[in-house]
Formats: sequence, C-alpha cells, structure tokens
Amino acid sequence: MLQVTNSSVSSSERSSDSRFVPQLDALGLLRIVYRQWPTILTGVAICFVFAILYLFLAQPKYSASFLIYIDPRQAQSLGKQEISMSGPPDPGIIESQVEILKSESVALTAVRLLEERAKAGGGASEDEGPGLVQRIVSALSFGASSPPPTREEIQHAAAEALLLRLKVKRIGLTYVIEASYWARSPEAAAAGAQAIADAYVESEMSAKFQATQKATSWMQERIRELRDQASIADRKLLQYKAQHNIVETGHGLMNEQQLADVNSQLGVARAATAEAKARLERLNALNRGDIVNGSVSDALRSDIITRLRAQYLDYENKQAELITKYGQAHGAVQNLEKQKEQIKRTIEAELDRIGESARSEYEIALARERGTQENLDKLVAQQARTGESQVQLRDLESSAQTYRSIYDTFFQQFEVAVKQQSFPVSDARVVTAPFPPDKPNWPKAIIVLPLGVFAGAFLGFFFALVREFLGNNFRLGDDVINYAGFDCLGILPNLALETNKKRTALGRPGQLGGNNAFVRHSVNAPFSRFTETLRNVKVTIDSNKEQGGAVVVGIVSSVPKEGKTTFSANMALMTAKMGTRTLLIDGDLHNPSLTRTLAPQAQIGSVEVLQGAIPLAGALLRDEESGLEFLPSIVRVRESNIVALLNSGAMVQLLDQARQNYDYIYIDLPPVVPVVDAKAFAHRVDQFVFVIEWGVTTRDVVRDALEGADILRQKVVGGVLNKADPAELKRFEAYKGRYYGSYYVDEN
Ligand SMILES: Nc1ncnc2c1ncn2[C@@H]1O[C@H](COP(=O)(O)OP(=O)(O)O)[C@@H](O)[C@H]1O
Ligand SMILES: [Mg+2]
Repeated sequence: MLQVTNSSVSSSERSSDSRFVPQLDALGLLRIVYRQWPTILTGVAICFVFAILYLFLAQPKYSASFLIYIDPRQAQSLGKQEISMSGPPDPGIIESQVEILKSESVALTAVRLLEERAKAGGGASEDEGPGLVQRIVSALSFGASSPPPTREEIQHAAAEALLLRLKVKRIGLTYVIEASYWARSPEAAAAGAQAIADAYVESEMSAKFQATQKATSWMQERIRELRDQASIADRKLLQYKAQHNIVETGHGLMNEQQLADVNSQLGVARAATAEAKARLERLNALNRGDIVNGSVSDALRSDIITRLRAQYLDYENKQAELITKYGQAHGAVQNLEKQKEQIKRTIEAELDRIGESARSEYEIALARERGTQENLDKLVAQQARTGESQVQLRDLESSAQTYRSIYDTFFQQFEVAVKQQSFPVSDARVVTAPFPPDKPNWPKAIIVLPLGVFAGAFLGFFFALVREFLGNNFRLGDDVINYAGFDCLGILPNLALETNKKRTALGRPGQLGGNNAFVRHSVNAPFSRFTETLRNVKVTIDSNKEQGGAVVVGIVSSVPKEGKTTFSANMALMTAKMGTRTLLIDGDLHNPSLTRTLAPQAQIGSVEVLQGAIPLAGALLRDEESGLEFLPSIVRVRESNIVALLNSGAMVQLLDQARQNYDYIYIDLPPVVPVVDAKAFAHRVDQFVFVIEWGVTTRDVVRDALEGADILRQKVVGGVLNKADPAELKRFEAYKGRYYGSYYVDEN
C-alpha cells in the first residue's frame, strides 16, 4: 500500500510538470517516417494520381521563343560613340533591353501588329488579342450598367494579357536576350512571339529616330546660336579694325607696311636731295670764263652744250686758218669772231637754264624729303597708338576663331545625326525568329510527376506529423505517461489482427471461456507478445504488493469496450497458471460480460454471496487448466443500488475471506466515466490497472475518468494500451532491433 502510494504520487507529479515535448531531431523524424510510412505513401500515391490526371487533362501550352542580339556598341547613346569604343560596354544595357522588351509600349505595339495581321490573314490567332481580353473585360465588368470598354481599354488589357504570357531573360553574360511566348496553339504562340519581336525592333527604331530627331532639332538650335555668336564676334572684329584704322594686307597690318614703305621712300628722297644739291653746287662753282672748257661740259653732261662747244671749237679752228691766210683784220675772221661770241652767249644762256633747273630740282627734292619725313613721323606716332589696340584685336580675333571652330564641329556632328535620322539603324537584331513549336512545352511529365511525388511526400509527411503530434489518442507508451499521468506497463496487440482466428472451437469441459480464444490467449499462447506484456504487468503488481500478503487488483477503463474483461481474464488465467492462488471476480454488475464470456452457464454468483444466500465457495467456478477460481455475477433484475452492494459489510467480509485464501484477487470493474462504481469501490482495492484502447480512447476521456477520482488515481500502478495494430506496433518498436519480435510465439 505504501509503495503503491509512493509510486503513484511520483507518476502523477511527472504528469503535472513535464508535458510531452515532441522529438524533432533527425532520429525522431526518421522514427516518425518509419512509423507513419503508410500515411506518407498514401499522400504520395494520391498526389501521383492527381499529377497523372493533370498530365492528361491539362490544356497544353505551346511556347515559341526567339533570340535577340543587342549590339553593345551601337546601343550607346548618340554622340558617345568614341567613349564606347574604348573599354567594355556597359552590361546594364542588356538588362535595360530586357526590361524594354517587357514594357507595355512594346506590348501595345505587338497587340496592334497582331490586330493588323489578324485582319490581313483572316484571324490566325483565335485566342490572342482583344477577342479573349474583351471576354475577360466584359466578364469582369459587373452588370450591363457599366459602359462597354473603349478600344483603348481593350488594347491595354490585351497588352497586359500578352505580357503575362511573355518570358524574357538574358542568356548568361552574353548580349543575347531570349524571349518566349506561350499560347494554346503552336501557331498562336509563333504569331504572338513574332509580333513581340517585330514590335520590339520597331519601337527600338522609332525610339532611335525620335532620339536623333530630338538631338538634331536641339543641334539645329545650338548651331543657329553658335552661328549668331560667331558672326557677332566677326562683326565686332571688323568694327574694331575700322575704328582703329587697321587694314590687313598680304604681309601684315597696314600700319607696319606703311611705315616700312615710307621709311624707304625717305631714304630715296634724301638721296635725291643730296644729288640735286651736289649738282647745284657744282654748277655754282663753274668758272664762267671757262665755259667752253671741256671739263665744264663734261661736268654738266649736257648734249646741247657739248654740241655748241664743238661748233665753237670748229669756228675757232676756221678763224685760226683764216688769220694765217688773210690776217686779223679780214672780214671773214671778224665774222667768225662774232659767231664765236654768239655761241658763247648761247652756252651761257644754256648754263643759266641748267642752273635754274638744278635749283628747282634741288628744291623739289628737299620738299619731298621733308614731306616724307613728316609722313614718317606721323606714322611712327600712330604706330605707338595702335600697339595697345593690337592686343584687343588679337582677343577679338581668337574669340571669333573659337566660335567658328565650335560651329564647324557642331555642324559636322549635325550632318551625322541627320544622316542617322534618315537611315535609323537598330542596335537589336533578331537572331532566331520564332516558329510554331511541334509539341507543347506544358504540361511536362518530367516536371509534373516528380513534383506530384514530392508534393505527395510532403503532404503525407505533414499528415503524419499531424497524426503524431495532434492526435488526441494514445499510441506510444510516452503518451500514457504524458497524458494519463501513470506509467505504461505495456502495449497489447490486437489479437484479431495478430492471430488470424477470432474464435476457437468449443472449449473442453471445465475450461472457463473455452469458446473465446481472446480471453484465454495467455494460456493458449504463453510465449506470445501479449502474454509477455501481461507478465510485465504482473511484475509491476508484485513490486507494489506487500510481501507474502494478498493483493486486490481492480481492472478499470474510462469507457466500455476497451478490453477490461479480456485483460482481466487473461491476467487472472496467466497468474493462476503460474501456480499461485488466484481469484477472479466479475465486479461489473451493470454489464457482467466476464461472466457471459467465461461462464455463460453459471446460475449463481457474487450477488447471492453478498446477500448471504450462499457461501463464497458455493458460487466459485474453477478453470481446470490453470486452476483459476472465478466468482461470476448474475444480475437477474437490475439492482437499483449496486454501489450500496459493493460498499456493504458483506463485501468487506467477502474480500477478507478472499485475502486469506488467495494471493491475487482480480476484480473486473465497470468503466469509470459512465458509472460511479469503480470510484466508490476504490478504497477496497490495493492496485488499479488502467486499460486504454490504443489509438481510439481520447486523452480527454482518460483525463475525465481520472478527474475527481483521487483515490483511484493514486492506486493506479500503470496503464495498458490494448488492441494496438501489430504492424504499427512493430514499426513503433523498430528501434528495439530487428529480431526483437522473434522472442514471441503467438500460437501454442
Ligand atoms: N487485445 C485484443 N485483441 C482483439 N480484440 C480484443 C482485445 N481486447 C478486447 N478485444 C475485444 O474487444 C471487445 C470488447 O472487449 P471487452 O474485454 O469486453 O471490453 P470491456 O470489458 O472493456 O467492455 C470484445 O469483443 C473483445 O473480444
Ligand atoms: Mg467488460
């Protein structure tokens, strides 16, 4: 008694403070898989079947794809060609093109192209374009009150639908983009893909065109500005030159040239003056008397004077001749003398004229020299003044030059841009064009089936986990400890599943319950797992029992049909078979099924004994094979107060008497939840064994049964899980080793 209390206290303590913690480590998961593989397999099978159904029933999808190559150098923006040539092209360009290909504007263009082609070709694509979308849109618009969608709305919806079917991706790190488009028919897929490819190239071109157009118009504006600026600079330069008398000649500026010229002129003038002066001086110095002298004429270099002198000399010669012939006084001589005088005078007059002209020549030269000198002085002064303005002039000149060169460069670029505008070149090239696929690309068995299996395994495992952790019943020994609060003494297999025979042939005379193989299983199969488990229960009972004394063991369960009666009979038969004095009492006065099973022929029983009608020995039945004594209960009229009967003094007497004659007294009691008997009788019992139906009885029911039955609970030495599925039980015990089960023999 003392030990019983101790043990039950410790087990109830355990239940209160250590709740069941699910074991989710690798081994725990493996065990769950092993235990629950039928569930998992069922999940896999179901999903696999669904996958196959899907393969057969799903509408096929055809997908057509095309490749687009983006020329990375051309793709750089206008005017940056030089930059792009050096260094690797920006990889972002390709990603941007991917996005552009997926853009709504391209999709809209594609929709327009599809429409045009459908009109031209008599509607090749039946489910593409507005047709399908119109249906969707009209389906989405609630009621007839909403206005019919405009053409634009339809096109936008169609573009959206188109984009949903389009997949675009860059291939690796290349400059190639792959786009694919799916539809319900191969032709529609190819047509859609083609439209998208065309739309993309077209929009690329028009974007390029617009960009160049914008650039050209901007450049035009800029060129006009530059031209204005250049001409303003030119005009300023000219004005400045005019203001400052700057004229350019072939050799430089006018001032410098002039200065040089005037300088040389001055030199010439000076030389001329000097010459004229020398001549004049020589003329002045001439001896008038010697005019006929040769040196004078030589000096004068005058032809007239030379001729006159020759004539004079001729006359003189003639005179000398005549003098010698005719003398001084001759008239001819006198005549010649006169002529000579005449020539002399002529020469003198000529000399005067020459002198006069030399003087005037000299004066003129002098005047010219002076004039030139003045000119030079003026120029020198002017030159000093223009030196400063020269600097400004250079400034103006260089700014005019700069504007002009900027203008020139711009103009060249402008020409290039205009050329590009008239021949827009696309950076994108469709490398492989879409063509109608010959087989659908969805559903694919190679993806769908493994996916089905995988999903099934996942689903199955999920349900397995749910069964393991959310199940509200008892399957493991730990469940008993965790949810009932007492030890699990063993798990009894379902005999109906374990031994293929439910009923044996008629029992031999003197054999209790001979017709029911289940109640005699411990005798019939002493080495079975079932019987071994019972022996384990007996070990626990023994360890809690007073040495040498008798023990009263009550067998209870929460609800009927969990197997109390079967358990009690087997337990008692086994104990008796060991040679110990054992009494089995049918204490279920509400439903004496033990009596019905073991001794259907019995006429008298415990009620009669308690009422004092007969002695105990008179009511006992004996099992010849095991030596078990059985006190049946026969309830003819339903006793109104069974509790009173159980608690009567006669009952105390009966148990005392039994304790003296037997070592083990097993009482099959009614279930705890529906009737109060067991609780009321608890104080007369030493130990309770609690039978729980495996996988059926819920934790709540067991908790209900134990609630408010403190005495009973304290005396429970352990629970037994009954009617476990042997197959599952084997999986549960897998960790005990493969040959664990070989120790049991189910048949006798
Ligand atoms: N271990 C078992 N294997 C197979 N059937 C069993 C087992 N235990 C009990 N049963 C069957 O379950 C039913 C109810 O059992 P029973 O012992 O009468 O339960 P209770 O006495 O708790 O109402 C009976 O038909 C019995 O044969
Ligand atoms: Mg019963």
